[in-house]
Amino acid sequence: MSDARRPRDGMTLAVFLAGDSNYHHLGWRHPDAAVDAGSNFERWIEFARIAEAGKLDMLFIADQIAIVGGDNLAAIQNNSKVNRLDPLALIAALAPLTRHIGLAATCATSYTEPYSVARMFASLDHISGGRAAWNCVTGGQKEEAQNFSMERHAAHADRYARANEFADVVMGLWESFEADALLYDKIGGRFFDPAKIHALNHKGEHFAVRGPLNVSRAPQGRPIVIQAGGSDATVEMGSRIADVVFTAQADFEGARDFRDQVRQAAVARGRAADSVKVMPGLSVYVAATRAEAQAKFDALHAMVEVADAIAGLGRLIEVDLSGYDPDAPMPDLEGNDLRMSGPGTFVRIGREKNLTLAQVAIQAKAAKNHCLVVGDVGDVADLMEHWHCNGAADGFNLLPAIVPGSLRDFCEMVVPELQRRGLYQQDYAPGTLRDKLGLPYPGAAPARAAAQ
Ligand SMILES: Cc1cc2nc3c(=O)[nH]c(=O)nc-3n(C[C@H](O)[C@H](O)[C@H](O)COP(=O)(O)O)c2cc1C
Repeated sequence: MSDARRPRDGMTLAVFLAGDSNYHHLGWRHPDAAVDAGSNFERWIEFARIAEAGKLDMLFIADQIAIVGGDNLAAIQNNSKVNRLDPLALIAALAPLTRHIGLAATCATSYTEPYSVARMFASLDHISGGRAAWNCVTGGQKEEAQNFSMERHAAHADRYARANEFADVVMGLWESFEADALLYDKIGGRFFDPAKIHALNHKGEHFAVRGPLNVSRAPQGRPIVIQAGGSDATVEMGSRIADVVFTAQADFEGARDFRDQVRQAAVARGRAADSVKVMPGLSVYVAATRAEAQAKFDALHAMVEVADAIAGLGRLIEVDLSGYDPDAPMPDLEGNDLRMSGPGTFVRIGREKNLTLAQVAIQAKAAKNHCLVVGDVGDVADLMEHWHCNGAADGFNLLPAIVPGSLRDFCEMVVPELQRRGLYQQDYAPGTLRDKLGLPYPGAAPARAAAQ
């Protein structure tokens, strides 16, 4: 029987798909992996159908607008993330082919203008019948900056300053039309009511945007806004503007502390703690038995070479790791202007599990700095239940090691167990994504940047 309360009471689940979509760095080499999802849209239809059959709340498409490491293509020949469809085009195409699942896409604030983003996501919200979500990140790779007329990426604090103002403008533009602004009065000759469409007249440090937006009010009032990260700047911005915060947390305590921080910061800003959902990433290797799950994991890991793993970790966190001993304990690494929270998390992973740099780097190929679980259905459900029921996660962002296999495994094995335990929805609730997630509709226009 369908239980419309579940999305509000139970956990929220998203699937993280990126580019070619195999989350494990070498997932594309697995015999069953879809290798051509970077340009074969048929694959995406299949992924969306599996996710929707599993009643997942959101299909999220991450993005980078560059080939990371592209200045030395020979060194990254085994990286499948060189071929990836534009995520906004993808979710627009998936909208009419799906009915219930939320469709989320990254659009980084460092390389575009807020008017364009407001217009695109308002359009996607109309096209999808109220299922659009914007992952508002700053972008974090020098290769992206170099594709947008910048020599290097702006400093972390500067990126977040721009991102905060950017998001304010986007949300302000989404308030342009009141719900009943369009009259369509053919007899009277009034297409709209001028009193119900508002200019924004924003003038800030980074943007001057007059508005109004030339797309009517979105079905969700405003599309769901996601913030992804782990630093203080993410807590600050996420607690202020986000409906959902995606984060990488390797362990329970870290996840619980992070969620507490976000919720407390939201309350300090006058928001209800439950108006923002914190969803850590989760990399799941599941099978009927623990031994089979371990074998799945080992099969992928057998392909990883230590030197390649260390170089990849270095690229990920923007730290040159070439001078460190791979077999010594994980060294101390500082956050930097490109990756503020990443290096510290990897150091913690190493210290807590007593791992060498090589071991941390190999684990990063599977799960980066996210939580990793290898086990049978009960093990996976136990971990998720523990995190969810003890304040560490409102839900999870699933990172399928290989697609479609890992996604199908999760939907067919773990979802029924979560449902049996009363932790997950039996069916989709009616309404928009905002309704399904039990998140409040915007009331008054959000605070403008000038008021910060
Ligand atoms: C689940 C998740 C998804 C993310 N998706 C993207 C993305 O699609 N594009 C991107 O440039 N960065 C993405 N990021 C990176 C974050 O925006 C952020 O730069 C990174 O996590 C470091 O966090 P910090 O800036 O708070 O230190 C993602 C992070 C997480 C945890």
